[in-house]
Amino acid sequence: MSALDDPTDANLAPSIADAPTGVSDHLIAAGAFSEGERNAVYRAIETRRDVRDQFRSDPLPEDLVRRLLQAAHSAPSVGFMQPWNFILIRQPETRERVWQAFHQANEEACAMFEGDRRAQYQRLKLEGIRKAPLSICITCDTTRGGPVVLGRTHNPATDVYSTVCAVQNLWLAARAEGVGVGWVSIFHEEAIKTILGIPEHVKIVAWLCVGYVDELYDMPELSVKGWRDRLPLDRLIFEECWQDGEEP
Ligand SMILES: Cc1cc2nc3c(=O)[nH]c(=O)nc-3n(C[C@H](O)[C@H](O)[C@H](O)COP(=O)(O)O)c2cc1C
Repeated sequence: MSALDDPTDANLAPSIADAPTGVSDHLIAAGAFSEGERNAVYRAIETRRDVRDQFRSDPLPEDLVRRLLQAAHSAPSVGFMQPWNFILIRQPETRERVWQAFHQANEEACAMFEGDRRAQYQRLKLEGIRKAPLSICITCDTTRGGPVVLGRTHNPATDVYSTVCAVQNLWLAARAEGVGVGWVSIFHEEAIKTILGIPEHVKIVAWLCVGYVDELYDMPELSVKGWRDRLPLDRLIFEECWQDGEEP
């Protein structure tokens, strides 16, 4: 076997000596947070809610919005692709047009359910587009970083997964700031792309309604309103391999 065939060959394996100088200077101490810090993280995770109606109308300060976007921009991304953009929409006219697009799609969605379920769906409020003072459209540029992106070579959807990580970071940071976030996905993507002038190769990942909130539900609103309950965690955990059984 030649050296080229053997990936373990000492001549080919990268070593610390090959690393750019100063790399190790970037290793900093890590370890568990203090108890108070840990509690704060878990509190943000557990009390984060999808908000549709509890928004206050007062605008969010620019520095606060910036912190939320910084949190989003700190998300992990495949090959450090950072495929996201954040379109901030405050104009009521634009939000009205987006609401119309939602409304049309929501009528279509409603018709997909039968009987009592349809009546129940009709009673749900599923957006805060006009009520929240700020909307953030988070997009994924599938071409950022060129045609071959480290880590995305065998799963092109990882660019969208990355963008969803940014959404979740923003959502959790917002909870800590007393700001509510509601994710709206009921619309034809093309309709929103036309309104915002988004190019073909860019995908819309999330439309977020954002505003201060004084109150939040203590459990998912869909659960409060009898649509669906949280599944028991223990039924979702498998050891070592997939386990067939009753659908949870
Ligand atoms: C990808 C995604 C899309 C969603 N789209 C909508 C939506 O269009 N309308 C809505 O009211 N909620 C939407 N939600 C919010 C979910 O309904 C909500 O997260 C779920 O019911 C659990 O509630 P919680 O977020 O308050 O814990 C969406 C959430 C996700 C993650």
